[in-house]
Amino acid sequence: MEAKKKKGLNIGVDLGTVNTLVYVAGKGVVFNEPSVVAYDNETGETIAVGKEAAKMVGKTHDRITISKPLHLGVISDIRSAGTLIEYVLQKIDKDSYDLSASTLLLCCPSEVTQIERESLIELASDLGIGECFIEEEVKAGVIGAGVDIFRAQGAMVIDIGGGSTDIGVLSLGDIVTSESIRVAGTFFDEAIIKHIQFTHQVLIGSISAEKIKKKIGTLDEALSGASETMKIAGRDLLTGLPKEIEVTQKEIRDVLIEAFEEIVNTAQRVLQQTPPELAADIINDGIIVNGGGALIHGIADFLSNRLQVDVKITNNALTAICEGTKVLLKNKGSYLVKPLD
Ligand SMILES: Nc1ncnc2c1ncn2[C@@H]1O[C@H](COP(=O)(O)OP(=O)(O)OP(=O)(O)O)[C@@H](O)[C@H]1O
Ligand SMILES: [Mg+2]
Repeated sequence: MEAKKKKGLNIGVDLGTVNTLVYVAGKGVVFNEPSVVAYDNETGETIAVGKEAAKMVGKTHDRITISKPLHLGVISDIRSAGTLIEYVLQKIDKDSYDLSASTLLLCCPSEVTQIERESLIELASDLGIGECFIEEEVKAGVIGAGVDIFRAQGAMVIDIGGGSTDIGVLSLGDIVTSESIRVAGTFFDEAIIKHIQFTHQVLIGSISAEKIKKKIGTLDEALSGASETMKIAGRDLLTGLPKEIEVTQKEIRDVLIEAFEEIVNTAQRVLQQTPPELAADIINDGIIVNGGGALIHGIADFLSNRLQVDVKITNNALTAICEGTKVLLKNKGSYLVKPLD
């Protein structure tokens, strides 16, 4: 009896600096793990990928190297990008579908260069994928936020990811104007580390800094007086010994606001470059904020005060890009035509 012919899949990947998410047509989001790979230095073998590899960050010895495919919104390690994509494809049960009949859409930060895009496409082809194309994550993010970008109507998005903040205005299915800066989640964590080092003389790790940002981070400018506090441990820079300190919400707020000034300036520049008819649409519809950074407390009020435009935080800020690939996979590269449902 002839074996049943396996079908190809439509697969959308949000290859982020911090998180990688995968959408499969008909199944939804099937993978959501940190973009981290751990290698054995002696044998070159992959020890762990995703969640398991992320647990090792900051806790390794000489034999293990931790790699991340992207750094500050650009591809920094094509080998680990390959390992991560291969791992993801295995996770969606490679044996049950035909890779060579499948289409892969990779969403990347807009700063990823043409050469890097070509390397990613080559990588997908080496893995046996039939067709691969690359899209800017802002575009997928706006669609994932529920906006119909195929109309003659301007939509503005600020995607605050881990490595970069991408700001873009879209209309008629494509990006009209955009800018990308490296002020995003990882930058906020580093700013918190520097602040604590300077004011408390204690060195904390990046995981601790991220915890502080998520737990007590805010952009609430009205916050004053006694604010929430959080205990955190690190290494005392004077004695070299472990030490626990208490940080206040107010001091973290000030660190975050300073970092956000650059995001505000960039958004203002993008608005200035926006053609007037599209700017009028943005005034009416507001600006959409996506990405993990959209979850910082008080962000909507802060940005709308500074930009004098309504700001809406996407409900699915961390998964919007991946979910937006659903539409882009349907029309594979032709964005002037709205795909049918
Ligand atoms: N509740 C929260 N408050 C503040 N920041 C958060 C929260 N949840 C996640 N983040 C931050 O969001 C970032 C990850 O967001 P996201 O998954 O959108 O990034 P990414 O897509 O991997 O990065 P990029 O798009 O820059 O390549 C991390 O820096 C994380 O610390
Ligand atoms: Mg992202």
